[in-house]
Order: sequence, then structure tokens, then C-alpha cells
Amino acid sequence: MSEHRSIPELCRFQADWCERLGSPLYAHLLRRAADDFDQGGPVRELLAPHEHDPKGSALALRMMGAVHRLALQGELLELARFYPSCGGTVALEPAWNAFRRTIAEQMPVLRELVLRPVQTNEIGRCGALLGGFLLIAHRTRLPFRLLEIGASAGLNLQWDQYRYTWPGGAWGNPHSPIVLNDVFTSDAAPPLGDVTVAERRGCDPDPLDPSLPECRLTLRSFVWADQLERMRNLEQAMEVASRSQLRVERAGATEWLKSLLVEPANRMTTVLFHSIVWQYISRQDRKDLLDLIHEAGSRATADSPFAWLRMEPGEKSAEVKLAIFPGFEDRIIATAGYHRPNTRWLGETE
Ligand SMILES: C[S@@+](CC[C@H](N)C(=O)[O-])C[C@H]1O[C@@H](n2cnc3c(N)ncnc32)[C@H](O)[C@@H]1O
Repeated sequence: MSEHRSIPELCRFQADWCERLGSPLYAHLLRRAADDFDQGGPVRELLAPHEHDPKGSALALRMMGAVHRLALQGELLELARFYPSCGGTVALEPAWNAFRRTIAEQMPVLRELVLRPVQTNEIGRCGALLGGFLLIAHRTRLPFRLLEIGASAGLNLQWDQYRYTWPGGAWGNPHSPIVLNDVFTSDAAPPLGDVTVAERRGCDPDPLDPSLPECRLTLRSFVWADQLERMRNLEQAMEVASRSQLRVERAGATEWLKSLLVEPANRMTTVLFHSIVWQYISRQDRKDLLDLIHEAGSRATADSPFAWLRMEPGEKSAEVKLAIFPGFEDRIIATAGYHRPNTRWLGETE
């Protein structure tokens, strides 16, 4: 995407992604919102002040999340009739008419809400990361010291407590209420084995506490309103997480890792991971992070290895990349869906 994409172009670009990722409702609303912007309608009034926002801040999704938040709060009865997340049934053009009226009528509150950054916590991404975790365990054969940056509410830090299935295989807690199905889409799957997590910590500049109603509403608002499976997974994961002691620490990635990566953890594999976070980190911080990661890599030994696992946008789908220091050069080990695992495993299988 070019640096200077206009707001209607951003909306249409996001609409295409929503279409591909199974949200016909958001695809339609965003295309009509782009037209409305071009025609000087309420969408222009709401979004025009954000013309120079960084492209990674996902303005179009911020608008969708802002409106969804009001609908989930029970304040948009007309629009809620077309949002499955609120008990409604999708009807594309009537939904657009209600959406447009909402923007016009709720302008003051939406102007505030649209400032909020996109904050999801998508447990489907655990299915994309699973193969990486298993491969790290298979190669290092040590307990994990798990560190997640951009951890949001910490739902993905509990990846080892969920159940994963695919044709011909399964992994994880058979009693978990959270089951991700069809994790691997091809015949290839990573080497399966036990993983021990000795320590788990996460950071986020704006951590969400899954036991608080306000934080739960934020997470729900950024799920697309016609994707009920995602919503159900989120509800269950928030329920499980709210009963655990684990809470994400308030910090940006660079400052947090500076202190944590200084010393390798003895007889443990330090596993740094992240998903759909890189674009939200400033250019300077990304550069500093890469320096920290490579310094940690150069200090790592076979007794104290360091792994860097991440799922971030690729050309046509998300890419899962892994480096293990020492001995496993950085490479793509899988491609995956952004919300559902749909993981095509490319790494070693035994
Ligand atoms: C799109 S969400 C993804 C959350 C989670 N990783 C997931 O996959 O569900 C992006 C997250 O990155 C966080 N973030 C933004 N800037 C950050 C930074 N400098 N360091 C760490 N996290 C950051 C946001 O607060 C937000 O929780």
C-alpha cells in the first residue's frame, strides 16, 4: 500500500480485505462509506480530520469498531437489527442506510471513539503460531520462558491451554472449552510433543483486563459484527482468562524487552512472540527492537536458546516466521489466515 492512500482508498482497500476474510457486511459498509466520503456525506465529516494518520493505524477499522461499540452497548437499535453480534440479521443496503444515519446522528461521540486504536485479541492466531511453538520445543527440548509484545488482554499467552484439531491430528488440552478446528490445511503438520511453559509474561502500552466489562467491550467492538465464530471464541477465552492470575504489563515493547532480554534464562528457551503488532510500533522503536533481538540472539547458547516467533502481514496472507538462536536461521515456517488459523505448514515435520 502506498504511503499516501486517500481515505476512500483506505476504506475500499479494507473492504476488499473484509470480503476476503469472510465479512460481506463490513465489505459493503466500507465500500458505501468510501462513496459517502467522496460525495461529502457524514463519513467525510467524521474521517477527514484523520487524513494524515499513519496508514498502519487502520482508520477504517477504527470507524467500524467505534460504531460497533455503540451498537453492542444497545444504543443503536436500528443498526443492531442488521448486526448478527447484536442478535440481528444481515441485510446489506438497509444496514448501510442505518450505518450512515448513525454516523450523522452520533457524530460527537464517534469523533471521540474513532481516536481509539484498534485493539483486538484474536485467539485464532494461536492456531497460526502453534506450529512455531511446537517446533521450538522440538528443537530446544527446554521449558519456555514466554514473552509476548502487544499482548492486548493476554488471551494468546494462554495458547497452550487451548485445543487444536485438524484432519488427522490434534494437540492441546482435550477438556478446554476453546477448540480451534482445521488448524492445518495441508497434509503437513509440525512435530507434535509436550511443551512446558515455566514463565509467561506479556506487555502492551494499553493492556486490557479480561475481567473488566469495559475492556471486554473494547475487545468485542473490534470483532467484525457478522463473524459470530470469532465472537464466540473471544467470549470463551475472556472467560478463561478472567479466572487466571495472568495480567498483561503496561509497557511499550522496546522499553519492556530492554530489561528482560539482557540476561539469557538459564536452562530455559526464551520465546519472544507477537502477532499483528509490528505495524503499530513506531519506526524508531522497530529499529531498536531489531537491535535488541539480534543482541539477545548473539548471547544465546544451546543451554539458553532464544527464539523469535511472529505472525505478521505478508503478501497475500499472514506469514509466520521463526528464528532460533543458535542454529535455526530466520525463515517463513507457515502462512496463515488473519483471524482463522488456516495454516499452511511449510516447516519441518519431524
Ligand atoms: C491489532 S492488536 C493485536 C493484539 C494481539 N497481538 C492479537 O494478535 O490479538 C495490536 C496490539 O499492539 C499493541 N501495541 C501498539 N503499540 C505497541 C508497542 N509500541 N509495543 C507493544 N505493543 C504495542 C496495541 O495496544 C494492541 O494491543
